[in-house]
Amino acid sequence: MNIDLAVIGGSGLYSFPGLENATRHSVDTPFGPASGDVVIGDFAGKRVAFMARHGESHTVPPHRVNYRANLWALHSLGARTVIGVNAVGGIRADMGPRVIVVPDQVIDYTHGRYTSFCDIEGAEVKHIDFSEPYTEALRRRLIVAAGRAGVPVLDGGCYGATQGPRLETRAEIARMRRDGCDLVGMTGMPEAVLARELDIAYACLALVANFAAGCGDEAEISIEEIFAHLAAATAEVPRILAELLKS
Ligand code: HPA
Repeated sequence: MNIDLAVIGGSGLYSFPGLENATRHSVDTPFGPASGDVVIGDFAGKRVAFMARHGESHTVPPHRVNYRANLWALHSLGARTVIGVNAVGGIRADMGPRVIVVPDQVIDYTHGRYTSFCDIEGAEVKHIDFSEPYTEALRRRLIVAAGRAGVPVLDGGCYGATQGPRLETRAEIARMRRDGCDLVGMTGMPEAVLARELDIAYACLALVANFAAGCGDEAEISIEEIFAHLAAATAEVPRILAELLKS
């Protein structure tokens, strides 16, 4: 199937607005069930595939997402370019609520997740280069597309992937800041590395929902506020992707 772009929607993005003539595809994968169907339709004159990372009713928590099945399903339907849309907390001062970032680095703090397609019986062991965890050409296209759409985005930043589903402690975030993380989210890994294993061009559109623990003025992080900020940032995503598809 010809798919120009696949989008994996995170918290706040459970369907793709404006997708026309949509068909649903339930894919059997060697890794078990994906988070849900892949919805394929027309958007901005191109073929777009969409999957809700947490399921369409947000029932799959970050540590239980079957990242391998999701990527496998998209790839088997023909997707070779994927944008992961991820809700994040901002650590860097200029990465406050509603800011959109296209990160360029990752530190993985997750555990107990399947991080490779080569850990099934008899599979060939593959060591891949991951110096640059995102596809630079796709990152550039995304940044240019955001500019054309008139949506400000920040170019670059280090995404620290945590286990979730709880938010982090202040001490954990202080450590992540010392490590060089600019953003924190629960779903950026192993999605990025699995995409690389399948030779999928992959970039992340990180939507800042809140300042991470200890980074803002508030003593506690309000989950209601997270979702309000996310809704505002998510509303910009289709315009960016429409420009991306024109490029
Ligand atoms: N931490 C981890 N993941 C997140 C956050 C956060 O503060 N906000 C949105 N996703």
